[in-house]
Amino acid sequence: MSSGVEQSSSDLQNNEGQSGDNLYTTSPNHDLYLHFLKIGEIGSNLTEEAKAFNQCSPKAKLDYVTLNNGAKIPIVGLGTWQSPPGEVKEAVINAIDCGYRHLDCAYVYRNEEEVGNGIKQAIKAGKVRREELFITSKCWLTFFSEERVEKCCRLSLSKLQLDYLDLYLVHWPIPLKEDDDNIYPVDDQGKVVFSNVDITETWRGMERCVELGLVRSIGVSNFNSQQIERILKVAKIKPVTNQVECHPYLNQKKLIDFCHERGIRVTAYSPLGSWPRKMTELDPPLLRQNPTVQHIASKHNKTPAQVLIKYQIQREVIAIPKSVNKQRIAENIAVFDFELSDEDMRALNDLNQNFRYQKFDKFGLTEYFDHPFRVEF
Ligand code: A2P
Repeated sequence: MSSGVEQSSSDLQNNEGQSGDNLYTTSPNHDLYLHFLKIGEIGSNLTEEAKAFNQCSPKAKLDYVTLNNGAKIPIVGLGTWQSPPGEVKEAVINAIDCGYRHLDCAYVYRNEEEVGNGIKQAIKAGKVRREELFITSKCWLTFFSEERVEKCCRLSLSKLQLDYLDLYLVHWPIPLKEDDDNIYPVDDQGKVVFSNVDITETWRGMERCVELGLVRSIGVSNFNSQQIERILKVAKIKPVTNQVECHPYLNQKKLIDFCHERGIRVTAYSPLGSWPRKMTELDPPLLRQNPTVQHIASKHNKTPAQVLIKYQIQREVIAIPKSVNKQRIAENIAVFDFELSDEDMRALNDLNQNFRYQKFDKFGLTEYFDHPFRVEF
């Protein structure tokens, strides 16, 4: 650990995959290494917060996984769901400073303009180049007809101030009535209005976005195995990932196995176990306070959040922890200098309760005949 810089250098030059199947690789990104060198040079006269921020130290590095189209995605990204406008721009800049190269966004998060301002500022300041970033957005449910997918994509591109997205996802397999103004179009009874667009039509719209050069890769989010199967039957372009809620209380083992067998990566949202802010029921159990998670964290001299992120990495699942706090942003990417043992992984797997923090049940959404949570996985 004494000469962390040298170790980091050799780590970064090591292209060996950890899985042996060449899908899980270490980035040879030299600029990133130089960036960490710079961080390492920062003097010791720092505030506590700055010291914590510098956890993304010379030891830190970023690992990538390869998608089924050959594109590489950083295995840890910054989530922006529930990141308030007014805070998320700074969060994006801090994340880039700290070595994040993967940002997860969505039309429905209503903060893409601010995220875009953060990206723009970081690029302008020479912190990063566009091509070093991996930026995801998602098509919202009121834009599910073939032509409207492109419209939603262009809206996100315009807000993010980008020419292309690295990844575009179908946000949920639930089509809603076409509407440019309302996220959840509702009827007189306050019930959401569904549409009869089929997800395979939406998929054609997604493929069109690739053909038009608007996006490099496409995938899905919150799809169950049956819905993925239906897409695979018609796809000219295969989904590269299925982004789903995933953490030890909902470890998604069956869905991950299903996806991996088909060359589809899984991306874990809410890897720390967070829930929709406006939830009305009592707060659910906080995963970070689980005694097993805490015990494993103290054993490795890491935080519970770092253990939860590392848990996903060691299963080759991409994780997108959300934070707008500078210190926690740094903490969440300082996860490449320790390993969970097989015993740790087993103990974390054993916490599974198929417990969902995100139920996607407002305005009668669960009444949709093909709501993804109607089947086991
Ligand atoms: P904040 O943005 O104030 O840091 P998830 O990624 O599972 O959705 O979790 C996000 C939630 O966890 C947010 O409330 C976020 O708050 C909080 N959070 C993010 N990183 C950490 C961390 N390292 N330690 C504790 N809480 C965290």
